[in-house]
Amino acid sequence: MEKSLNNKNSQDKILTTAYFIILNVFKKNISTRESKGLKALKYSTLSSSDKAKCNDLVQKVLRFTLFLDSLINERKKGRIRVELFCLLRLALTDILVRGVKKETVLKKYSEFALSLERTKHSIDQLRYYIHLGFSEWNKSALKPLFLFEKKLLEALVGQYNLKSVKRIEKIFSKSPYVDLYIRNRVKKGQYFEQFKGSSTDPSHFRFSQNVSLMKTKGYISGEWWVQSLSASLPVKLAPIDFKEKYVLDVCCAPGGKSFQLADQGAILTSIDKSKKRLNLMKENLDRLKYDLDLICVDVFEYKPKKMFDIILLDPPCTATGTLGKNPDLQFLKPLDKLEDLLDTQKKMLERCSGWLTDNGVIIYSVCSLQKEEGENQISRFLKKHKRFSLVDPKEGCHLYKDGFEIQKTRGIRIMPFFEEGIGGTEGFYFAYLQLKGNGN
Ligand SMILES: C[S@@+](CC[C@H](N)C(=O)[O-])C[C@H]1O[C@@H](n2cnc3c(N)ncnc32)[C@H](O)[C@@H]1O
Repeated sequence: MEKSLNNKNSQDKILTTAYFIILNVFKKNISTRESKGLKALKYSTLSSSDKAKCNDLVQKVLRFTLFLDSLINERKKGRIRVELFCLLRLALTDILVRGVKKETVLKKYSEFALSLERTKHSIDQLRYYIHLGFSEWNKSALKPLFLFEKKLLEALVGQYNLKSVKRIEKIFSKSPYVDLYIRNRVKKGQYFEQFKGSSTDPSHFRFSQNVSLMKTKGYISGEWWVQSLSASLPVKLAPIDFKEKYVLDVCCAPGGKSFQLADQGAILTSIDKSKKRLNLMKENLDRLKYDLDLICVDVFEYKPKKMFDIILLDPPCTATGTLGKNPDLQFLKPLDKLEDLLDTQKKMLERCSGWLTDNGVIIYSVCSLQKEEGENQISRFLKKHKRFSLVDPKEGCHLYKDGFEIQKTRGIRIMPFFEEGIGGTEGFYFAYLQLKGNGN
């Protein structure tokens, strides 16, 4: 890897880095995020615009991998090594998604394949597929799609239905957008008038074009932060006035929900066990300047000095609701981790439930499509803890929208096709669990 990253121009560096990030997913089970931190990959040496181009390429390849693989497999004439598979996915993305010219694709990928030990003898195969890409696949106007891998597809069809799952695939096929949460004090009106985008409410703005966030109005003065629409809903729709309430945000980093709580005047303690993620949160706090107590600690070791009126618990989960944005996740066997995650979520819920004042509320949320982590986890908790009951979200027009489902005994399910008109959102689940006071 070291050798092929030396002495390369910008385009070559982007391709090489993207290739190794993708190869790491399929060959070593390493997530794209982890890969970017590997010294040997030299991702950090790319300029910020090259990083953006590399990320875009990696995202597109991974989003459409299963679709592209089905094309490759249909015309396969023998065994294809994982290294060649990754190169073919990159080349087909250039052809079918990015509309790169034939001469450029042929030259770029032939040279690159020759520079790699494991693909240099596969030039004929590579060229065969590139020709197919131009002669057949792009002529038939095939539009690559996001597809769920087999195990995940079966699990989701079992929990929803095929029609809903196909709708999710359609939403995840689109490039991910960037959502901003705009803080309370900002006069919303025409705040983002110079940008192309859309809003679902005054605290939310979605860019429909690429922008440099650091150069965007309000970045330095801390008037917004990046947070997906669905991730903002558990706090936004809570039937609670947070002002001057003692609130604990368990598993807080990188901080979107803490910032919402602080913005609404909560007296906030936020904990997380990851130093790295907390550092990211601190960078944002430097801009946003909210006053909150940030503690790096494992929830299973944390001993609160007081009880809390509200506890927000956003525990680790399979994150399958975010596959549109993090398409590598489905190749890292998320369902294999499900049992362990369920156990952690259950133990966190049990532990936090002992830190609530009477009539206090736990806001539980997961960015997962798996009902085990959402509806079933909460049903189980409610069966065991009779003093807790579910509370509905705030009244509002969201209640009647497609993809927003309130389930009387099971919480709120956000499907990725919620707000389909502006491109949908991430899959999410949340619930408000109120502890009845002893006198009630
Ligand atoms: C889904 S993320 C939280 C996202 C965050 N609530 C937000 O809105 O930005 C889950 C977090 O749980 C943290 N975490 C996992 N296990 C933990 C533990 N035992 N104690 C504290 N934090 C933990 C992870 O470091 C990660 O930051």
